[in-house]
Amino acid sequence: MKKMVTILMLICLAAGVGGCAQQQKVEEAAPALVMGFSQLGSESSFRIGNTKDIEDRAKEYGISLMMENANQKQENQIDALRRFIAYRVDVIAFSPIVEDGWDNVLLEAKQAGIPVILVDRTIETDQQDLYLSQIGADFYREGVMAGEYLLKKADELGKEKLHIVEITGTADSTPMKQRHEGFMDTIAGDPRMEILESVNGDFLRSRGAECMKYLIGKYGQRIDVIFSHNDEMTVGAIPEIEKAGYVPGRDMIILSIDGGQEAIDILRAGKINCIVECTPMLGSLLMETAIAVKEGKTVERVIHPRERSFTDYDDLGAIAPRGY
Ligand code: AHR
Repeated sequence: MKKMVTILMLICLAAGVGGCAQQQKVEEAAPALVMGFSQLGSESSFRIGNTKDIEDRAKEYGISLMMENANQKQENQIDALRRFIAYRVDVIAFSPIVEDGWDNVLLEAKQAGIPVILVDRTIETDQQDLYLSQIGADFYREGVMAGEYLLKKADELGKEKLHIVEITGTADSTPMKQRHEGFMDTIAGDPRMEILESVNGDFLRSRGAECMKYLIGKYGQRIDVIFSHNDEMTVGAIPEIEKAGYVPGRDMIILSIDGGQEAIDILRAGKINCIVECTPMLGSLLMETAIAVKEGKTVERVIHPRERSFTDYDDLGAIAPRGY
């Protein structure tokens, strides 16, 4: 892109001011490609960071972006995809709020010859050619990492039993299903681990607080561990633990996912024990994949960003500002 601007400047110099204005118009009228992106909502700092990253990277790569926010409703996402088809964008990208129910609209995109890229989450379908690529975290591995941390902590504490409550993300969403599976598979063979209950917190801070209030009311000090599927719900849950007279991070082990700045600061304060990273910075991978698709190149079916965990065993001073 920078090369193209330099070439245009040279042409401008040769053509004089009038020619330059004309070239400028040509460049503005011809973006690398037009992308329609349906974001699922604004439920968390992950999501807000993800939206901003996609907008910023689209500008950087010279891609014209039609961004629509579905406010947590699948029907709004389906409507947005239909508008992108009617507009005949070059590429459709979207973060599916849930896994089921996309076949019809994706078939329409296929019939219109518009390639589809999934971002962050995936879908459930028998027709594998309805999308080209999925760019997003390995949510199963995130659940495994949370489970592995807990096994290590259990060894350190030397307890015979650890009673666990789980606050899950949106039902039927990829991160909810895979984080749950990865975590359960990891702790399943250990007789110290006992699940008391799993409740649905929908990835929302307010629901995290409600779920925690309910769980503390029902199980009180029996709770040893809280596995919360995202930072937003964790941040909502912590004041409820404190109001009930317990010290989060000490009386109850807190496991969270995402790694946004607010949660990292709470981890540093000792009120969260482990955060598994889920990065929202998927914009560059998306733009590069979309350009490759437009150029007719073959792209990877699944693209996972590299992720890590932050725990009370680590040097927490060394964490760079998170940017979301
Ligand atoms: O799909 C990723 C998840 O969605 C993030 O963990 C969560 O914060 C968001 O709502």
